[in-house]
Amino acid sequence: MLAIIGGSGLTQLSNMEIERREVVRTPYGEPSGALAFGRVCDEPVVFLARHGYGHTIPPHLVNYRANIWALKQAKATGIVSVASVGGIRADLAPGTLIVPNQIIDYTWGRKSTFFEGGDTPVRHIDFTEPYDETLRHRLLAAIAAAGDSAMDGGVYASTQGPRLETAAEIDRLERDGCDIVGMTGMPEAALARELELPYAAIGVVVNYAAGRSSSAHGIHFDDIELVLQESMVRVRAVLEGLCHV
Ligand code: HPA
Repeated sequence: MLAIIGGSGLTQLSNMEIERREVVRTPYGEPSGALAFGRVCDEPVVFLARHGYGHTIPPHLVNYRANIWALKQAKATGIVSVASVGGIRADLAPGTLIVPNQIIDYTWGRKSTFFEGGDTPVRHIDFTEPYDETLRHRLLAAIAAAGDSAMDGGVYASTQGPRLETAAEIDRLERDGCDIVGMTGMPEAALARELELPYAAIGVVVNYAAGRSSSAHGIHFDDIELVLQESMVRVRAVLEGLCHV
């Protein structure tokens, strides 16, 4: 059973027949919301809205450990994350879909491991390839099957938020080799790896990153909202097609 973590603009799957909702407690506290179990094109799926169903939990306060733990406990066999991002590279315009293959973590102060103290022996996971290649290719195939297109690969910069970046910060991320920037990729990806859950993400570029647009007035949230709404229709079509690939 695939798990889908929906980000901004995707707090529910309109094409998902929900069979039951389950409030799960974990040793790490409460997940962002109840898990929604159902079917997408007749395949079992569990859905979780990363920021809560009313979009009230900011990126730095998401209980990533509880979310991943709850999905594992629910017997998910893989996680597809949907995340809105800013485009750093010039060709990553709003509306572009991207399936990243690398990540750099700029977050701080987040609970980022299940292995800390107590009776749990320390474990160091291999994280050379942070995203699962098989699941990444399944996502790419589903995007193609939906008649859509996406950038295959790219480096995701995970920033702390909730504020957007300065232009100089984006310049630095670009020098670091980052292509897109978002606030939730980490520690989510690493926690999934710790629990041996294959993890891949579909990034939806909703704005040019700070200082990257020709507009002199910074980033407009009305514009983001519009792109989000349009793009999530496409993302839903992609998720619907996942069971065919
Ligand atoms: N920066 C960080 N996170 C984001 C952005 C951005 O420009 N757009 C959407 N999520």
